[in-house]
Amino acid sequence: MEGYIFDWLNLFLRWFHVLAGIAWIGASFYFVWLDLSLEKATPENEAKGIKGQLSAIHGGGFYEVAKYQLGPPSMPHNLHWFKWEAYTTWLTGFSLLTVLYYWGANQYLIDPAKVAFSQWQAIGASLLYLFAGFAVYEALIKSPLRNSNKGFASVLFVFLVFMAWLADQLFADRAAYLHVGALIGSIMAGNVFFGIMPSQRELVRAVTAGEKPQAIYAVLAKLRSTHNNYLTLPLVFIMISNHYPMTYGHEYAWLVLAVIGVITGLIRHFLNLKTQGAGVKPGYLVAAFLLTLALAAVMAPKPVATTGAVINSDQALHITHLRCAECHAGQPTNGMFTSAPAGIILESEVQLLQYKDRMISALQTNYMPLGNITAMTDDERAQLLGWLKAQQ
Ligand code: HEC
Repeated sequence: MEGYIFDWLNLFLRWFHVLAGIAWIGASFYFVWLDLSLEKATPENEAKGIKGQLSAIHGGGFYEVAKYQLGPPSMPHNLHWFKWEAYTTWLTGFSLLTVLYYWGANQYLIDPAKVAFSQWQAIGASLLYLFAGFAVYEALIKSPLRNSNKGFASVLFVFLVFMAWLADQLFADRAAYLHVGALIGSIMAGNVFFGIMPSQRELVRAVTAGEKPQAIYAVLAKLRSTHNNYLTLPLVFIMISNHYPMTYGHEYAWLVLAVIGVITGLIRHFLNLKTQGAGVKPGYLVAAFLLTLALAAVMAPKPVATTGAVINSDQALHITHLRCAECHAGQPTNGMFTSAPAGIILESEVQLLQYKDRMISALQTNYMPLGNITAMTDDERAQLLGWLKAQQ
């Protein structure tokens, strides 16, 4: 029953989280595009304090949008804010983290071969990791470093790579990537909550009081908004990374993530320059493409040296019975699963052969057994791989 409730909570929260994330990222992409696409205001608009404007057509209607230099002369009757998209994404994301990685800590968060945490220790380490990471970002953005785009970007990148390495030391592979994602997501939601919102409230206060808003508030909000813009692409990769054990299960998973961060950053920069009207600079896209090819080539799995005689099918089944069947059975005995995970049952030779390729990939990347909860030995892994590869 516990596993069944776990599955439904997991499903609902993931669905909600993705939906909220689409709304947040969608709105954020739209406003970045809007800002970068503004055309010079007409003289009449300029006289009203408008900085730029643009026309668009969407869904069968014409739109005319204008952005004020700082604020309108008087407070509009109805002002739309965009904050709940961000807050909902963070809240559902944190709930999903709690269900999947805290409740299911033994399966998903802890890898006893890295650190043999108890469930509560692992939860403590996870919370501390996220909180400390977030605090460092907030300290950085309040420091003079924020005045230098390149300086800030470099320091933040090095810091995030360090955090990826640290997560890799502490948590199970998949959880390690997810923690970098949760940290980036928290930084982004924090940018809205602790930076953009207070700045906007100050702008609104000034306009309501009939004062001229101070430019610094707009500048600070814009800076945080730009950081969010660059963090989105790597974050979306991490959100879907659980489907790609070849990335997070790699021996140097943190380095793989760093390179993917660079690739997605290049793509984001290309898009921003293009929207800004700075011209299409294909060099960035080409660099991203070449780097992806190079990464794929470097990551290509090396043939595992299977020494000794190939085991027979009974011995192979014995290994899967010991190390896999607690989950991958018609009736799993592991309390977290009410049915075979991914629909994969590994109880007969026919079934092993049916899932041969996926088993090879899951075993080679150390993805399976999940969190090595069944304590599979390296010998058993090599033997099972040897048998799987010998089957035609
Ligand atoms: C603690 C439970 C557990 C154990 C033990 C376990 N698995 Fe899994 N396995 C899972 C779960 C959960 C998934 C689905 C993961 C996901 O959603 O990405 C999965 C998925 C898989 C997949 C599909 C991966 C893919 O997406 O192609 C394969 C193959 C697999 N397991 C093989 C094995 C093998 C082989 C063993 C034993 C050596 C094993 N598993 C042990 C829980 C387990």
